[in-house]
Amino acid sequence: MEGMLKPNALKNKTIIITGGGTGLGRSMGKYFLELGANLVITSRKFDVLQKAANELSRETGGKVLPVACDVRKYEEIEKVIKEAEGEFGQIHGVMNNAAGNFISPTERLSHRAFDIVVDIVLKGTYYTTLAAGKNWIAKKQSGNFLNIVTTYAWTGSGYVVPSACGKAGVLALTRSLAVEWAKFNIRSNAIAPGPFPTEGAWSRLLPGELVKKFDPAQRIPLKRVGEHQELANLAAYLISDYSGYINGEVITIDGGEWLRNGGEFSHLELIPDAMWDMLEKNRGKQ
Ligand code: HXC
Ligand code: NAP
Repeated sequence: MEGMLKPNALKNKTIIITGGGTGLGRSMGKYFLELGANLVITSRKFDVLQKAANELSRETGGKVLPVACDVRKYEEIEKVIKEAEGEFGQIHGVMNNAAGNFISPTERLSHRAFDIVVDIVLKGTYYTTLAAGKNWIAKKQSGNFLNIVTTYAWTGSGYVVPSACGKAGVLALTRSLAVEWAKFNIRSNAIAPGPFPTEGAWSRLLPGELVKKFDPAQRIPLKRVGEHQELANLAAYLISDYSGYINGEVITIDGGEWLRNGGEFSHLELIPDAMWDMLEKNRGKQ
């Protein structure tokens, strides 16, 4: 559970992280700071951001600028970019990490409930991408987008349908712009994490008694959930220049979860050794 990149791997890089004051955004940001980056963290709740910024600076010695911003409001994102440039000069990377999600049978959702999730996940990501991308292109600066999706961005998933729609759109955006904006030296990649415990995700996806009923680790071949540092290592690599030839990729980090649950015979892991012994003994006898 150690940091993987060499010291100063992100020295003098300025990275914006949406939703950077909590959960995975905060953990990834902390590692970027340890590697020498300057951080701009944004979300709707300024008090949360400010507290996180103070703690992160204290823990790492790095510089963190907290800026309140609702990613559904284009002008607020433009303000983040201005403030980030005012503080640090140039922006090098943007991580689209902010999200909204909750579980519900789809027929119970109002159209407003559907909107609220898709707006944060998809509109928030394309607004941030458009504002940051136009700024880089106008200034002839290179740039790097890293988008946090989920493994159900390609499989879809019941009970989180607005999130699945939003994340699928973000994946399409990632792959499309990786091609279109490569001529401006702007890369776009994504990470698809499996379950990594955070207060934000667990409280909305495993509320109440569900957390006792469904242990996410049981769905995962490695039989454990992810460690934040494991994700931070991957994110730091993708946001750094070491991954300079990776463009348009989505990297899954889920302990084998989505493949296991799509595999026709994966459930045969429930067969005990004694039964395999019996099946072997009786092979060809029927
Ligand atoms: C059904 C719901 C609902 C629920 C809200 N609504 N919660 N419907 N089930 N659990 C409906 C409301 O009735 C309302 O519709 C509409 O949604 C908007 O409700 P608000 O009260 O305005 O929204 P609010 O509940 O305050 O906020 C919803 C939210 C919030 C914005 C999505 O949860 C949030 O701030 N989330 C940010 C953080 C987050 O979600 N993190 C988890 C990411 S986890 P009506 O019609 O009544 O007006 C993730 C990981 C996935 O993405 C992969 C894991 C392996
Ligand atoms: P989290 O802590 O709840 O993170 C979500 C962040 O988004 C919060 O900081 C929230 O801050 C911010 N946000 C929500 N709405 C916003 C808006 N309109 N404008 C700006 N910021 C907004 O949950 P997390 O688990 O760390 O999730 C982080 C990312 O990882 C998400 O993209 C999620 O889909 C993805 N992911 C997580 C898991 C997991 O197991 N944890 C698995 C797969 C993918 P405010 O409330 O202050 O705005």
